[in-house]
Amino acid sequence: MNQHSHDPDALRARHRAVMPEWLGLYYERPLELTHGEGRHVWDAEGNRYLDFFGGILTTMTAHALPEVTKAVGEQAGRILHTSTLYLSRPMVELAERIAALSGIPDARVFFTTSGTEATDTALLLATAYRGSNQILAMRNSYHGRSFSSVGITGNRSWSPTSLSPLQTLYVHGGVRSRGPYAELTDADYIAACVADLEDLLQQTAGGVAALIAEPVQGVGGFTAPPDGLYAAFREVLAREGILWISDEVQTGWGRTGDHFWGWQAHGENGPPDLLTFAKGIGNGMSVGGVVARAEVMNSLSANSISTFGGSPVTMAAGLANLGYLLEHDLQGNARRVGGLLIERLRAVAAGLDVVREVRGRGLMIGVELVRPGTDEPSPEAAALVLEAAREHGLLVGKGGLGGGALRIAPPMTLTVAEAEEGAELLADALRWAQERLRDG
Ligand SMILES: Cc1ncc(COP(=O)(O)O)c(C=O)c1O
Repeated sequence: MNQHSHDPDALRARHRAVMPEWLGLYYERPLELTHGEGRHVWDAEGNRYLDFFGGILTTMTAHALPEVTKAVGEQAGRILHTSTLYLSRPMVELAERIAALSGIPDARVFFTTSGTEATDTALLLATAYRGSNQILAMRNSYHGRSFSSVGITGNRSWSPTSLSPLQTLYVHGGVRSRGPYAELTDADYIAACVADLEDLLQQTAGGVAALIAEPVQGVGGFTAPPDGLYAAFREVLAREGILWISDEVQTGWGRTGDHFWGWQAHGENGPPDLLTFAKGIGNGMSVGGVVARAEVMNSLSANSISTFGGSPVTMAAGLANLGYLLEHDLQGNARRVGGLLIERLRAVAAGLDVVREVRGRGLMIGVELVRPGTDEPSPEAAALVLEAAREHGLLVGKGGLGGGALRIAPPMTLTVAEAEEGAELLADALRWAQERLRDG
C-alpha cells in the first residue's frame, strides 16, 4: 500500500507505529474524518455522519461555518503571528467581549492554546495569590493532561500518576446519582456535601488555595450536582478566603441551554473568582484562557507569556464564532432543541434496561449504560452503541468512569429535524446493543 493511499486501515497501522499507545482511538476500525459542513462530517471513504460529538464539544457552532472560515482566511492572508509582545486588535477585542460576558467584576483575560494550559494558569494564579499549594477538586473530575492538571483529576482513567506539585483534596458532589449520598433528596444531598467539605477543611492544616470544579463534569460522563451546590460551597469557601475556579471548558457559551455559563446554575452567591474556557470558542482553532478579577490575575510577581496564546488567526476565529453564537441565540437553540432531544432520549430509554439514566441539560446530554438487569456501569455496552451508531451514520462520544456513559454534544446550531433523526439512530443503536448483550 503506498504512503498516500486513502485506506484508513493502512493509516491506522502507521498511526500505531508512530503515536503513543495511550492515545486512544474510537471504533474497531478507526475513522478518518476528512471534511464537514453544518452538523455533518464525512470520512475518507465517503460516508456521511450526523455529528453529535463535535470533536469533543469543540465544533461549537457548525462545521465549515462560512463566517469563521472567512475570518480565518482573511487574517491568515494579513499576518499569521506577531506574539504577545505587540498590541493585537483581535486579541483585545475578544478579551473585552469575554470579560463582559464572564460576569466577573473588573475582569482580566489571559489567552492560552488549550484547556489544559488554562487549568494550569488558573492553578498558578490561585496558588500564588493564596500562597498555598492545596487544591480542592471534585471526585470524578477532569481538567487536562499536564502534570499539574492530572494532579487534580478525580478519575483514575485519566490520571496516570499520583505524583503532583499540588496537594489535592477530593470533595463529594459532582455525581448526583451514584456514591454515598445518591439516595438523598436534592436539599439533603447539598447539605451532606457541604458538611463533608466543612469537615475536610477542619482537618486540613494551612489555607487551601482554591476549589476547582466543572459545573457539569465532561469526561466524567456529563454528571452534575443539584443546582445550588456550588453556591452553598461558595459560602463555606468565602469564610476562609478560598477561591472558586469554575472550569467552563465544556459548559461555557450557552451549551447547557439554561445558562450562558455552567456556574450560573449555582449563581446565587455571585460569579466565581476565576473561570477557564477552551474547546468551543475557537470552533476548532486552539483558543483557551482564564478570566479572573484583576487582583487575582495581577498577583503574579514575575513575567509570564504564552507564545501562541491569543495568536491573530485564532482570535479572529473566536471573534467570528462568538459573534455568530450571540447573534443567532445559539444558547436559546441549545435549550429548545436540547430539551426536545433529551425528552426523546428519555422516552427511548424508558423501554430499555441497558440505560440507567439520561441526564444533562441543553446540548450536553449523558446516557449512562449498565449491564442489563444490574446497576453495574457497562463500558462494553457503550462501546457497542458507539459502533452501531456509527454504522447507522451517527457519531457520539463516551465518558464516565471506565467509559460507561454516552456523551451527546452536537454543534449548537442543531436543527429539530437533526435532533429527531439522531434520536432515532441512537434508539436503534441502543436496542441493537441491548439485544447483543442479552444474547451474551
Ligand atoms: C472540563 C475540561 N477542562 C479542561 C480540559 C483540557 O482541555 P484540553 O484538552 O484543550 O487541554 C478538558 C478537555 O477535555 C475538559 O473537558
